[in-house]
Amino acid sequence: MAEITPTENGPYWVRGEFKITLSDGTEKVTEDEVWLCRCGHSETKPFCDGSHNAEGFVSDNLDMRERE
Ligand code: FES
Repeated sequence: MAEITPTENGPYWVRGEFKITLSDGTEKVTEDEVWLCRCGHSETKPFCDGSHNAEGFVSDNLDMRERE
């Protein structure tokens, strides 16, 4: 089971057992945790490369419970 936590003004923090299938079909076996870009500016998508800081990304700060 994986746990996904949106960080404040940053990436999704994903923890647990999972794999990521990239757009070219290759599979990335993850370690215990990864950070996935949600600002759209990372050069290493789907992973966060820290670009959200330079781009001034501001999240809406709503988690899944607040959206339901
Ligand atoms: S969330 Fe970090 S680069 Fe997009």
